[in-house]
Amino acid sequence: MEKTPENTENLLKKHGQNQLLAFWQQLNSDQKQALLTQIQQLDLPKIDDWVANYVKKYTPPAIPTDFDPAQSYTHSPVNSDQKNKYDEAVQLGKKLISDGKIAAFVVAGGQGTRLGFDGPKGNYPISPIKNKTLFQIFAETIKAVSEKYQATCPWYIMTSPLNYTQTVEIFRSNNYYGLDEKNVIIFQQGTLPNFGFDGKILMAEKDKIASSPDGHGGSLKALYETGAVEDMKKRGTEFISYWQIDNSLVNLFDPLFIGLHALDESEMSSKALIKFEPKEKVGNFCLVDGKVTVIEYSDLPDELAEKRNTDGSLVFNLGSIGIHIISRTFVEKINKKGFALPFHRAAKKIPYIDQQGNVIKPTEPNGVKLETFIFDALPLASNSIILQTKREEFAPTKNATGIDSAETAKQITVARAADWLDSAGVPVPRKPDGSPDCLIEIAPSFAVEKNDIKEKISQIPQIKPNDQIYLD
Ligand code: UTP
Repeated sequence: MEKTPENTENLLKKHGQNQLLAFWQQLNSDQKQALLTQIQQLDLPKIDDWVANYVKKYTPPAIPTDFDPAQSYTHSPVNSDQKNKYDEAVQLGKKLISDGKIAAFVVAGGQGTRLGFDGPKGNYPISPIKNKTLFQIFAETIKAVSEKYQATCPWYIMTSPLNYTQTVEIFRSNNYYGLDEKNVIIFQQGTLPNFGFDGKILMAEKDKIASSPDGHGGSLKALYETGAVEDMKKRGTEFISYWQIDNSLVNLFDPLFIGLHALDESEMSSKALIKFEPKEKVGNFCLVDGKVTVIEYSDLPDELAEKRNTDGSLVFNLGSIGIHIISRTFVEKINKKGFALPFHRAAKKIPYIDQQGNVIKPTEPNGVKLETFIFDALPLASNSIILQTKREEFAPTKNATGIDSAETAKQITVARAADWLDSAGVPVPRKPDGSPDCLIEIAPSFAVEKNDIKEKISQIPQIKPNDQIYLD
């Protein structure tokens, strides 16, 4: 009988993880090699620490006792000084886009469990009339922006080992949606092992450790470790426009946001929504020790969440929506120094094989997944700024129906299109409750922002109730 490599076995025993070799005798030599490679990649001393502090016993990080609401730029300037600054920022932002200094960067490595869609979430059809997928919408937007500014806008897409191959295949079979393949860079984020509540690493198969992507916070490491940041440097990228795959309405190249980030020499900036209720399920932008920090909605004490200014507005009113500009040099700096974002722990239903080799699909949480979040990098950044945006920039597709679903995303998309047309003087039929009484879809080739509509009014037909209008 072939023996397990002794060193590995002893090492695993020392760290209480020798269950990983339970099926060794049943594996063929390729499988053995595959399993050994996975084991060699585990940082076992660190894992001991995670097991002790996040798996077996978990004390959530202390909520800061003393913090203030963060400052922010309003969506539109409030006085003439600010108007001058916004004008300057827009000019600078446009120049940076034209000069090819901006890279688009979407994180698409999540598992999309709530949506329950088979395949990468980016392949989910979401546009209200043409059923374009999220990938297609963003690709068309990048193409339209590149043409508008006569610039090359590289697009970096972070996937995970679970959806990388499928994602590449989707782009290949769709001819990169009209983009130049050289400017679409698809790479993989890291993973972390999954644990049973007893701290033992679970097995997904006899030769495969159960693991999952390390969270959107993993993007800051992955950009560096995969060479994406080096590639950006070669291309002249200075600023990275970060967004999350499930928000189809992000203004990917927003000159104002880019310009304010550059003018204020911020290392990492954020867009924020004004919360519509005290406990809206978005993180809260706060100021802790002078640093912009996101405190999750569940961690913000009720009395602070409910606290109001004299004009009735919420004191903690800025919600985090996963839209950032990140300076390329910031990603380089933190990686060179060595940094670690805090783990967030989630008890999950994790499929695994038991010690007898049976596949178990639990109906109740049976273990722990660890993840890091992008916004936890904000306190590491200097001069972090926040720009308020409107709800029309936020339509996350998290669920198939109900709140934050494909349904609501489509409604918000049509409502935004109707507002853009209205503000350009094109009448849109509306229902008594004010919502559009028609379906409208604006292709990115027609307009990527409100102002683009004005130049195309002559191409817009008269819209009647119940019409389906596709503008491209
Ligand atoms: P979510 O936190 O909504 O997770 O990700 P999800 O995996 O898409 O969906 P659920 O929670 O399983 O239902 C927000 C964004 O972060 C990306 C997702 O792809 C999405 O764009 N993400 C998340 C990653 O890129 N990697 C991860 O490890 C986690």
